[in-house]
Amino acid sequence: MTTGAAPVRQLDPADAVELRGTAEKILAAVGRGTSAAPQLLARVAESADGLPPSVRRQLRPADTDDGLFVLRGLDVDDTELGPTPAGWAAAGDSGAVHDVVLLLLATAMGDPIAWEGQQGGRFVHNIVPAPGHEGEQTGAGSAVLLSPHTEDAFHPGRAHLLMLSCMRNHDRVATTAAGVRRVRLAAADVELLSRPLLPILPDDAYAGARHFDGGPPPAVPTLYRAEDGLTLRFDPAYTPLADATPAHRAAYRRLEAELARVSVAVRLAPGDVLVLDNDLVVHGRVPFQARYDGTDRWLKRASLRVPARRTRPLAEASEHGYGQAAIEAHAG
Ligand SMILES: [Fe+2]
Repeated sequence: MTTGAAPVRQLDPADAVELRGTAEKILAAVGRGTSAAPQLLARVAESADGLPPSVRRQLRPADTDDGLFVLRGLDVDDTELGPTPAGWAAAGDSGAVHDVVLLLLATAMGDPIAWEGQQGGRFVHNIVPAPGHEGEQTGAGSAVLLSPHTEDAFHPGRAHLLMLSCMRNHDRVATTAAGVRRVRLAAADVELLSRPLLPILPDDAYAGARHFDGGPPPAVPTLYRAEDGLTLRFDPAYTPLADATPAHRAAYRRLEAELARVSVAVRLAPGDVLVLDNDLVVHGRVPFQARYDGTDRWLKRASLRVPARRTRPLAEASEHGYGQAAIEAHAG
């Protein structure tokens, strides 16, 4: 893994002030509810239309094969933030103004989504280490490497873009990211991994999905050749590789090794937002020692879809998604 630079887009300080001011006005108008409140989402949609062109320019799609960028320069003040919550359920409206800023940015790039079965249906998730969950492959984990994966890979309605907004990261814990368009694979491996041979099972963050009984897990391809290049759907921790043929397993492991080779470590600082193309990039996190004293690493996460994208096989549309429903912020 290298510590190669992710492309950085610096936000104009005046734009950061304006974004925060807009978020504060929205909260003042609708109250400090959670990011799932319908009035809040409606106000965000209205206000996102009025964001300055200089902000919109910084939110243009990722324009390199890395499939990611860091938007830098949001106004996050550690002293006024309050303690890092001890888990998502304890987060309440902690850092609510930053939830709204993130939703404004997300709405300028696409349609934010939430999941009924994850973090109470909120559109902005709090990613904080939680006592007792240290070994989990979810945002609540800490002590183990979070294996590189695409977000919500089990589901056909998963996000096209993922945004990770840093509130606090005193120990400079690295988020890892690796772009599939940087890997070198033999044509035979690409061909084999483009066949729908294995399912991707729902991850531990989805309470009900692992007991879904509405049909067998659909087998899905790992790689897909989109018009503008390769995309991937990848989550080895939830892929039953033991069921694969030795040749298939070996190809999968070669892809995994290539992703590790091209992986970059991104040490987010407060005010940074990492924007990841969830069809091009796998992300993960290095292990860290949680503090559990109110000063832990704290990220906020938004997921969004970009209408009319052609980065996935059409066959996905018929998958059951293990009974999990995505909720769109601006449906209709
Ligand atoms: Fe993730």
